[in-house]
Amino acid sequence: MSNSPIGIFDSGVGGTSIWKEIHKLLPHENTIYLADSQNAPYGPKGKEKITELSIKNVEFLLSKNCKIIVVACNTATTNSIQQLRETYDIPFIGIEPAIKPAALQTKSNTIGILATKGTLSSELFHKTSDLYANGVKIIEQVGEGLVPLIENGRIESPEMDKLLQKYLKPMLDANIDYLVLGCSHYPYLIPKLKTLLPKHLKIIDSGIAVARQTKAILAQHSLLTTSQKESTCTFYSNGNPEILNDLIANEFLATKLQF
Ligand code: DGL
Repeated sequence: MSNSPIGIFDSGVGGTSIWKEIHKLLPHENTIYLADSQNAPYGPKGKEKITELSIKNVEFLLSKNCKIIVVACNTATTNSIQQLRETYDIPFIGIEPAIKPAALQTKSNTIGILATKGTLSSELFHKTSDLYANGVKIIEQVGEGLVPLIENGRIESPEMDKLLQKYLKPMLDANIDYLVLGCSHYPYLIPKLKTLLPKHLKIIDSGIAVARQTKAILAQHSLLTTSQKESTCTFYSNGNPEILNDLIANEFLATKLQF
């Protein structure tokens, strides 16, 4: 079992930002990545639908004999991980917006969070932000429309610039000094965000934390691979595999999946 792959899924291509951190930290681990791009975005969908799609993704990864599943999607984690953990007898790693480090380090006592509607309206997100906010003011912003543009390979587009400017304005007006990226698609916007934000403002995401947690949980379950060989990384997409290939720099080629 320890040499079985790590399964990773997202509503689409964004979770590859998490896969990159996992692959960097655990280079000998085989991985299987599933992009459910045909059903992206998950953000505007309700909890029930998000859970139904998450279960379908998990079933696929289990059919590939995965030893652990990383839910590389904040929206799926905050809406469905509890049910996944109750349903399946395998460890799950989730991703949640990095409110805690931002709230601990802010000097202006105000932080911004950009995430999907599904994440920001979830019970789990409210619990986490109440727990860690500690008197810090949190400016929440739904990034409506950002995921579809990324899914369509349109990071560099006038529409993207316009949306980001609109979403950042209330946060900048409120004097945030930390911007939390609460969606695994958004790290691909960092170069663009840096051109739109003042230099002192820090951007944080949860990718490295998720990779570290994956390693810790594998170790705890004695599931770390014993292999020292080069790993096999397999990518599946039920959308346009070319967008996925661009993001993983064509290092491994994604397979088109009927799913
Ligand atoms: N990558 C997903 C997340 O982290 C995007 C959600 C969506 O498809 O709207 O929330």
